[in-house]
Amino acid sequence: MIHIRNAFTDDIPIIRDIAYKTWPIAFRDILKPEQIDYMLEMMYSPSSLTEQIDIKGHRFLLSFFYDLESNNKESGHRECRYIGYASYELNIAGSDKTKIHKIYVLPKYQGSGCGKALIKEIEKIALFNNSPILSLNVNRNNRAITFYKNFGFKIVNEENIDIGNGFLMEDYVMEKVL
Ligand SMILES: CC(C)(COP(=O)(O)OP(=O)(O)OC[C@H]1O[C@@H](n2cnc3c(N)ncnc32)[C@H](O)[C@@H]1OP(=O)(O)O)[C@@H](O)C(=O)NCCC(=O)NCCS
Repeated sequence: MIHIRNAFTDDIPIIRDIAYKTWPIAFRDILKPEQIDYMLEMMYSPSSLTEQIDIKGHRFLLSFFYDLESNNKESGHRECRYIGYASYELNIAGSDKTKIHKIYVLPKYQGSGCGKALIKEIEKIALFNNSPILSLNVNRNNRAITFYKNFGFKIVNEENIDIGNGFLMEDYVMEKVL
């Protein structure tokens, strides 16, 4: 069973670990390795993640399950296996939009319902906070576009974002009104 909890700056090593295991595989057919390295440093260095959480108001979620094989019958201790994360920002620029900044699941656990559980959790929180327009950017060649379409997201725009060092993010903007 997949569980979800809020994540904070103490969890940065867990988020980084999942990102560094997921990005090179997710983007290997889409981006050059140098761009993957550059973007990981830009978005996932400890200082960048700290700024996102503490200053920019991005909220992070971690998904995990309890590894039953690690269950210690005497102490009751069970290991937690972290398999995915998402980040989102409510009411961007005072609007009723929720921006989903990140959603990543470890390759081994893709297709396990983890991404769906993370999206459903964000939808619940967005509705509760009167921020019912979900918005996200996705690379125009990313297979995740189909995943988002399954949830009712629609392409509303195209953006080429200059991220420096000669690199571009060639994205679709997708939105869903809850
Ligand atoms: C995209 C991603 C977050 C989806 O999470 P996931 O745990 O693999 O997806 P789920 O198992 O929750 O799938 C939910 C539904 O979407 C479908 N789905 C999942 N990935 C899909 C894909 N690439 N194309 C089409 N449908 C997809 C599943 O079949 C499932 O449908 P169902 O509910 O009818 O059974 C995950 O695959 C991932 O991390 N991918 C690589 C990184 C990435 O591209 N992230 C997005 C960056 S914008």
